[in-house]
Amino acid sequence: MNHQSVKMKRSLYVPLVLFAGIIVLQFLPFVRADSVQSVPAKPLAGVPEEINAILEKSCFDCHSSQSNLSWYDKIVPLDYFVNGHIAKGRAALDFSKWDSLENPARNNLLYYSLNKILEGEMPLKSYSYIHADNKPTENDIAVLKRYLTERTPRKAFDPELVLDSNENLNSPKAVEKIIVAANANGIEYIPEYKDWKLISFSDRFDNATMRLIYANDIAVKAIEENRVKPWPDGAIFAKAAWKSRSNADGTLSTGEFFQVEFMIKDAQKFKSSLGWGWARWRGKDLKPYGGKAILTTECTNCHKPLKENDYVFTKPFLLKNLN
Ligand code: HEC
Ligand code: HEC
Repeated sequence: MNHQSVKMKRSLYVPLVLFAGIIVLQFLPFVRADSVQSVPAKPLAGVPEEINAILEKSCFDCHSSQSNLSWYDKIVPLDYFVNGHIAKGRAALDFSKWDSLENPARNNLLYYSLNKILEGEMPLKSYSYIHADNKPTENDIAVLKRYLTERTPRKAFDPELVLDSNENLNSPKAVEKIIVAANANGIEYIPEYKDWKLISFSDRFDNATMRLIYANDIAVKAIEENRVKPWPDGAIFAKAAWKSRSNADGTLSTGEFFQVEFMIKDAQKFKSSLGWGWARWRGKDLKPYGGKAILTTECTNCHKPLKENDYVFTKPFLLKNLN
């Protein structure tokens, strides 16, 4: 045997032993990951079959009680990754809980899901690599977009609602002159939010508002130091919203000041409401919104699916992009 072929034999030896090892592993029950339970998920109520089919195909494996695993998902040690993704995915978002959600929360979930697809974050890349057929196609994405636009059509601008728009734009300043009452849960208005860092902007055409999202110093520092899961006590977000007016030429501009909302992190103090204090002031005269119960249940119901991000929608990377 010449030198060359001995070398080749040796180089085959290692992969062969590894391969044999992996085969043996498959038959050892105690090295398997605990397999996840799969219970058939109901179609999402009030959602057309076509839309259901796309979400079921691309998302349900990790985001519902129904996980159709293939034989290759069950190979040790791959099964650890697969089961881990499913457990984490279900914890972050579970379409099987659809029936327990109010309509605004459902709309929100669908929007959020579409955004994750458009951003290329979902389905997870490692999953699409193995399950290429389950990846939403261009056509699936177009169908989802069209459906969401129909589900929550852009509301036409109602001139009755708008006062003089210049005055409205300045209204947060005007507000300082009025005495603002605390929310029913005792949370006081924080006028300084306008000096905080702006971390995001959103336009919700389903309810015709434009929103600016601000973060206080503690929240900004936490983002910079990547200490956001969970957010530290003292972090505060403010979201200020204006009515948006759709002008005749198709442009949008801000109309009347609509409301400002706060989320104040204090894990201990606000233990009963996901670790955050929730408060909202409506209208130019900043009227405290709702009763104590409404402030907790209404706000937390919608934010609850964001458990993975400590209930905050706005993605910290936006801040880094804007810096
Ligand atoms: C292979 C499993 C897997 C598949 C398939 C998958 N996801 Fe996810 N998804 C995850 C995991 C794990 C997380 C949470 C981890 C994270 O935030 O990084 C997540 C997070 C999310 C979140 C954010 C939830 C939150 O609270 O932050 C959304 C929205 C989402 N997925 C939507 C989708 C949609 C829509 C699809 C289908 C197009 C999909 N996912 C397919 C595993 C998956
Ligand atoms: C219908 C669902 C829904 C309800 C109800 C809701 N929110 Fe939100 N909230 C959102 C969404 C979506 C965002 C992300 C920004 C955006 O799109 O406007 C958000 C963002 C926020 C933010 C900015 C930080 C973040 O999470 O991104 C604050 C502060 C906030 N909400 C406070 C409140 C308060 C206070 C209440 C109750 C009075 C409330 N929210 C009720 C959906 C909701």
